Amino acid sequence: MSLSKMHPLEKTQEKLSRKNDRLQLETVSLEQVAGTVGTPCYVYSRAAIERRWHVLDRAFSDRPHQVCYAVKACSNVAILNVLAALGSGFDIVSGGELLRVVHAGGDPSRVVFSGVGKQRDEITHALDAGILCFNVESAAELSLIEEVAQALGKPAPIAPRINFDICADTHDYLSTGRRNDKFGVSAEQAHAMCMHAHNSRHLLPLGAACHVGSQLTRLAPFDQACRALTDFAARLAKMGLTISHIDVGGGLGVDYPGAAAPPLEDYIACLLEAAQNHAYQIVIEPGRSIIAPAGLLLSRILYLKTGGERRFAVVDAAMNDFLRPALYQASHAVCPVRSKQAPPPQAYDVVGPVCESADVLARNQNLSIAPGDLLAILTCGAYGFSMASQYNSRPLPAEVLVDGDRFHVIRKRGSIEDFIGREFIPGSSSP
Ligand code: LLP
Repeated sequence: MSLSKMHPLEKTQEKLSRKNDRLQLETVSLEQVAGTVGTPCYVYSRAAIERRWHVLDRAFSDRPHQVCYAVKACSNVAILNVLAALGSGFDIVSGGELLRVVHAGGDPSRVVFSGVGKQRDEITHALDAGILCFNVESAAELSLIEEVAQALGKPAPIAPRINFDICADTHDYLSTGRRNDKFGVSAEQAHAMCMHAHNSRHLLPLGAACHVGSQLTRLAPFDQACRALTDFAARLAKMGLTISHIDVGGGLGVDYPGAAAPPLEDYIACLLEAAQNHAYQIVIEPGRSIIAPAGLLLSRILYLKTGGERRFAVVDAAMNDFLRPALYQASHAVCPVRSKQAPPPQAYDVVGPVCESADVLARNQNLSIAPGDLLAILTCGAYGFSMASQYNSRPLPAEVLVDGDRFHVIRKRGSIEDFIGREFIPGSSSP
């Protein structure tokens, strides 16, 4: 039994190693997972999730803080349960996400609720559950929250989500803090909202929030956002309103092929320095930086074919299982689960069975592969399963959590009943 050498890209996947030329996550063989659970299948490492969360949490040292994991990045209840056991808070954007958090054993008093379109029933449910704070994205939303709070006889804790017009320097779709983005309110509007809340019996102005974007690979926008939040809070203090926290949002990037992100510790050090002259509790909402390097997607090669000048590896995972490459032209490393195969390496586009030309999981991969081989698509833990769909009537993939030398199915593969069981032909069946 020997530990073999890893390709540099394989090292970006946390807790992944090769034993006898075969990939293992922690000490579980990925061949064994695929053999038992089938493919396509997302596989996550519990140890990686825990380590990354602890690095963020510990880097704050004795500074009051709360790490609120962004549920949308990967919302399986088993993953949320791992984080809840660590004492994590959660950033949610829907009533459905709150249900998941509560089901997973998360503490509602550590939940922040973001999003531009919160509905009355979601607000009611969240206020009733006793969440930490509503991150409010418009004056109209604030009115609705006030109305619900009055009806429930329970004041609602709020923080305006402020759009400081910060350039996040990331993919256009992942930028959320520019003035023409739909998110948040201007600093002037936020100020008026806080003063209104200060004078309302039904609202508690607790904090100030922002979120500038996702997959940021530079720290400067975080520094800028954090300083803007403390300045904003200092302005409120001059008006006699002292808030208790600033919420810097999520957004720290991870290493993907061609992109290198700063270490988790440097990110926290940047926030601590920007807020050093202030006592506010610091809230962060990391999603990707916790879960992306902790998860991969396992897929099996169905066919090899050529078309024009290109060579294709047709695999059993597709854009419906993993949308990032099609939607953001995102690059993810693809590695054979068994290295040292017989055929000489050749350049392949790794494509799925979906009937769209955008269904390319990775382009131009130099691979030594044959039909039936397993491939691991790396750094897929964030926005992987959570953005999967049943497009082309393909069942949703399974999810597996590895824990040391054991693994657990944390989501059964979808089945055909998932679609036709909920559909009705008028006259022949009834809802
Ligand atoms: N807080 C708020 C208010 C957010 O909107 C988001 C992400 C986060 C926190 C977490 O951001 P993170 O730490 O994960 O960057 N589907 C895209 C990413 C969309 C991010 C949406 N908001 C992707 O696959 O890259």
